[in-house]
Amino acid sequence: MRRKLIVANWKMYLSTTKSILLAKKIRDVEKNNDVVIAPSFTALYPVGPVVAQTEIGLSAQNMHYKDYGAYTGELCVSDLVELGCKYVILGHSERREYFKETYDNVNKKIKQALKYGLTPILCVGENLRERRSGNASKAIEEQLKTALKDITKKEELIVAYEPIWAIGTGHPEDSKDADGIHEMIKRKFLNSNDKVIYGGSVNSENYKDFLKEKNTDGLLIGGASVKIEDFSKIIKGF
Ligand code: PGA
Repeated sequence: MRRKLIVANWKMYLSTTKSILLAKKIRDVEKNNDVVIAPSFTALYPVGPVVAQTEIGLSAQNMHYKDYGAYTGELCVSDLVELGCKYVILGHSERREYFKETYDNVNKKIKQALKYGLTPILCVGENLRERRSGNASKAIEEQLKTALKDITKKEELIVAYEPIWAIGTGHPEDSKDADGIHEMIKRKFLNSNDKVIYGGSVNSENYKDFLKEKNTDGLLIGGASVKIEDFSKIIKGF
């Protein structure tokens, strides 16, 4: 069976000091599993050395698609590489909802990340309206078509299926239904070395339900990833 991947999305939950402390605690409990942490931009710099000699991967939560230039408040891919990132989360629904991120933009970002050797963690997922009208698969396919347009390179790509209505609500998708979506994403859009992970209200009580599913290669965890008791249970238990 494939190794499962756990990605911790720290969002804007932690100060830099707290990020360093949490990274150290995760380093102390983590034992050869595939774990990636995604601190905020400012925390990447001091957290990088904490995980540098370990198996823990470092991810950013976003980036710009240009090499450099007059883009106030943005970070470019070479900054992330310099800070030790191997991954970058792109198209998270919070960025789409609050910062007008579009999948056309995400497409440019994926190309840029791949060009510099970063593994994109591309987020897709339907909203409640699409879900209720039976259009979830269609919405996800549209997102993937745009996000992956003209991407022919064969480097690793991770797709995170995160139904918007399940994020931070305490109501995760049913693990079997999520697995069905993962199967569709793999069959229609991905290569055999790519991964599909699930995100949305995963915690230390329900994570195993998802990890036992065949097409679920791992998890993207927000809220529960910044609580060390919960997160250590998860990374010790898979
Ligand atoms: P959650 O967030 O685990 O808090 O639902 C997941 C995510 O947004 O990546």
